[in-house]
Amino acid sequence: MNNKEIVAKELFEVVKDDLTLEQVQNLLENPKSADHGDVAFPAFSLAKVYRKAPQQIAAELATKINPEAFEKIEVVGPYLNFFMSKGAISQKVLHQIVKEQAAYGNATIGAGQTVPIDMSSPNIAKPISMGHLRSTVIGNSIGFIMEKIGYQPVRINHLGDWGTQFGKLIVAYKKWGSEAAVKAEPIKELLRLYVDFHEKAEKEPALEDEARAWFKKLEDGDAEATQLWQWFRDESLKEFNKIYGLLGVSFDSMNGEAFYNDKMAEVVTLLEEKHLLKEDQGAEIVDLSAYDLNPALIRKSDGATLYITRDLAAALYRKRTYDFAQALYVVGNEQTNHFKQLKAVLKEMGFDWAEDIHHIPFGLITKDGKKLSTRKGKIILLEEVLLEATALAKAQIAEKNPTLENQDQVAQEVGVGAVIFHDLKNDRLNNFDFDLEEVVRFEGETGPYVQYTHARAMSILAKADFTPDETADYTLADEESWEVIKLLQKYPETVLQAAEKFEPSVIAKHGIKLAQAFNKYYANVKILTDDAEKAARLALVHGVTVVLKEDLRLLGLQAPDKM
Ligand code: ARG
Repeated sequence: MNNKEIVAKELFEVVKDDLTLEQVQNLLENPKSADHGDVAFPAFSLAKVYRKAPQQIAAELATKINPEAFEKIEVVGPYLNFFMSKGAISQKVLHQIVKEQAAYGNATIGAGQTVPIDMSSPNIAKPISMGHLRSTVIGNSIGFIMEKIGYQPVRINHLGDWGTQFGKLIVAYKKWGSEAAVKAEPIKELLRLYVDFHEKAEKEPALEDEARAWFKKLEDGDAEATQLWQWFRDESLKEFNKIYGLLGVSFDSMNGEAFYNDKMAEVVTLLEEKHLLKEDQGAEIVDLSAYDLNPALIRKSDGATLYITRDLAAALYRKRTYDFAQALYVVGNEQTNHFKQLKAVLKEMGFDWAEDIHHIPFGLITKDGKKLSTRKGKIILLEEVLLEATALAKAQIAEKNPTLENQDQVAQEVGVGAVIFHDLKNDRLNNFDFDLEEVVRFEGETGPYVQYTHARAMSILAKADFTPDETADYTLADEESWEVIKLLQKYPETVLQAAEKFEPSVIAKHGIKLAQAFNKYYANVKILTDDAEKAARLALVHGVTVVLKEDLRLLGLQAPDKM
């Protein structure tokens, strides 16, 4: 039970005749300052019922509430301020963590239902961009968060392995490429060809026609085109997998756009049957003016299908395959309209589950305030960022803890963790400017700081040889520990909030706050002093290790025991 629930229960006992338990709960507030207690009840809403001034009501209620449940209850004007009984709560929370360990904060809301998460989804033959990094780490974290509340996540990499860009690439490769160059550095070379194509096509528009023709061949199953496509795809995936390996992310499905090639006819047939397709200058569209949206372009005049056609096929396939409770698409802000169109077309088709599709947008990563663009060759290479962050972590470890075992592994967990955490710590919709120096700062509100705090707490437990005990006295009633206990107690609620908003930053912020509170505690309290409360203090340290590790896990970070 959280504090609001405890207060609601006690308060309800004395206002039963006039308010429901739920009404009481909804009226309770979290005071801004600790001077006003842990939970506050404004008595205004009872003024009408009791026909008394709220101040008087507050004063009378205070005398009726079971005093044992609280340390004290203060009446301040129309407010009742509840101060929780610190000792009782610390005991309860610490016992619960000892009992449940990493399962602390788990919920069963999801009831085992599946949630496909469309995430990462980079485009073949292009470097995995910072935008795709965002999708990868946000999606991965949302997967863990949903799993924690009882859903079964299905991580799907909807690879951009189909589309007119392959026509362009084939043209560029045949004109200016070589097999050896692609083999040596696949993505770099394919990217060069792609950038070249766009530069040259600006002066020579006929190249665009050639590219279109090659893509048509590919769609028609031409052997040469298919073989080149497959080769570009294989080489690109090798490089993507290196990055996924570094990030520690894995997928349940790598079905990209091409997977739906043979599933598109059904979409078109269904649309035709429902009389939703309209001709527009030779192309076929679905009119969405009723939704205040631009028409969805389903098929071009040359018969080629489009991005949204494949997404329609993918949505149908996912509903059939996973019978999902919700389907999530972790894709940048700039595709908001696309997903609105997707949902609208599905609704028009009569699928009520269109409501369960959620686009989870996120903001842009910029460099020096400017947008990054593959076409102009303005990109940040993710693999380089991860390797550089790891190197910096290694240098720090060599300096601070030269005798540490597994230095390479820890350096990778910390370096990669820094990059992931930096991405997840702010509301996902915020844009941010990418600055490697800042990402790998190991102080302040960073992943390494949280990891380091976890390792420090682990070392205290090891030194004290602490054994958790569900029956020991873990009563802590002092102010210092209360700040930590409150954050531990809030954890289950925090997980629910993160899941409800699909917002990993809620978890990251909790991790930072808990790390800060614990470091303050550590600075002010002698944990290892032999006195009656030593076991309780160690249980608090233990609680911190469990919850910090779980915070990190939900974000996709490792929590090394030593660093
Ligand atoms: N490959 C696309 C891109 O890089 C993202 C795909 C997102 N997923 C989807 N089902 N549309 O922009």
